[in-house]
Amino acid sequence: MLTASITLDPAFRVAPVNRRTFGSFVEHLGRCVYTGIYEPGHPAADADGFRTDVLDLARELGVTVVRYPGGNFVSGYRWEDGIGPRESRPTRLDLAWHSTETNEVGLDEFVRWSARAGVEPMMAVNLGTRGIQEALDLLEYANHRGGTTWSDRRIANGSPEPHGIRMWCLGNEMDGPWQIGHKTAREYGRLAAETARAMRLLQPGLELVACGSSHLGMPTFAEWEAAVLEEAYDAVDYISLHAYYEEKDGDLPSFLASAVDMDRFIDAVVAAADHVRSRVRSPKRMMLSFDEWNVWYQSGSPSRPPTGEDWPVAPPLLEDVYNVADAVVVGGLLISLLRHSDRVTAACQAQLVNVIAPIMTEPGGRAWRQTTFHPFSLTAHTAAGDVLRVEPAGPVQDTARFGPVPVVDAVATHDADAGTTAVFAVNRSTDQRVELDIDARALGAGRIARCLTVADDDPRAVNTPDDPDRVVPHPNPDATVDSARVRVVLPQVSWTVIELTAV
Ligand code: AHR
Repeated sequence: MLTASITLDPAFRVAPVNRRTFGSFVEHLGRCVYTGIYEPGHPAADADGFRTDVLDLARELGVTVVRYPGGNFVSGYRWEDGIGPRESRPTRLDLAWHSTETNEVGLDEFVRWSARAGVEPMMAVNLGTRGIQEALDLLEYANHRGGTTWSDRRIANGSPEPHGIRMWCLGNEMDGPWQIGHKTAREYGRLAAETARAMRLLQPGLELVACGSSHLGMPTFAEWEAAVLEEAYDAVDYISLHAYYEEKDGDLPSFLASAVDMDRFIDAVVAAADHVRSRVRSPKRMMLSFDEWNVWYQSGSPSRPPTGEDWPVAPPLLEDVYNVADAVVVGGLLISLLRHSDRVTAACQAQLVNVIAPIMTEPGGRAWRQTTFHPFSLTAHTAAGDVLRVEPAGPVQDTARFGPVPVVDAVATHDADAGTTAVFAVNRSTDQRVELDIDARALGAGRIARCLTVADDDPRAVNTPDDPDRVVPHPNPDATVDSARVRVVLPQVSWTVIELTAV
């Protein structure tokens, strides 16, 4: 068995845990909306057609903020199609996902669903086929109290109170040639800045997100961030990051180390943003919104939508089935997001239901938790107080993609008021257990309240509708504490949370 150690110290404080770190994403894509969050006629549907089994799971997942309505979808979306009486809403072609959009669900339904799920809605505006005026109309409809054409339409449509949406994405992945209305960095930066300034005239206190690169591998990465922020630095609060990971060519060690890539991506965007800040001499620090991240087995690339004669309604697209290794990677990516809590102050796992998602449903039938549900839910519900940086000392292993990486990765949170501490740790070894020694003396943590591990003899094990609890977190039998020195055995390919209290 390998050994590793970490030291917990309140002096290693990074930042408070941002609740928005535990965001998710609902796009009009595949079955995320239709037969996902919404399915009138389902036995579990409420009076508005929302599936209560999915609402229950979304709450259990611990999601805090949900981005809507896309994604690539938003770049061709007319938001007005989704308001008013359902029978008069138009049916449209969705060019992004080669589907037919019925518009049965739109802004008002999504806001209603968000209230029921207990999440904050986060909206994206279309800067692909549309521009400043449509963004302003949408903002007026959503957030103006009343007495104008658009706000009175909202009231007439059954929402007397403004929706009060604070966080808005200025387009989506505008650097990607697959995006409808794809732009150069300068073109997009100007449009994002002008849209942001106009939106702030209507409502100054908004939090606005400019599109960063759609992933680290884009040829324009870094130049894109620099050019966009040179145009828009003063007008926006966040630059976005998107990243998806998959196991390629059976290279499990590299895949398990995906958080190394996320760390580097975040550090590079922070450097790019801070460089622009020094050039524009702004007192403001740009924050990062990691508003799409996940494991995604990209059988098609996001740049290539499905094609063919058919334009189906809510086809089953991107319905990845996740295994134990995927869950360990998701847990590892959350460790990376938490450790960057000083700059990454919002993040959305893409997506919530059916589409590369922790929650799956059958049309008319069951809903269940994928393996990846568990590290997300436990992190979202357990991380509290301040994030503490930890530097694991211990073995490293070679990976083809990232070179030598630590076998154990970890982060901690400490809630001084509640007297609780949590350690989140992954063991990325494919064949060795690790005994992790946690020195918690500086925090006086004397008792293990809970220690749960996601692992399995078969790292390829998955949950299915017939065996939905094949992979669940189990109490770790090998966790002990003595005078604030905690020892826990991390199985190979595993994710673990250890909750400590003072006594
Ligand atoms: O989440 C799926 C897709 O991935 C989104 O629509 C797009 O923004 C990204 O390429």
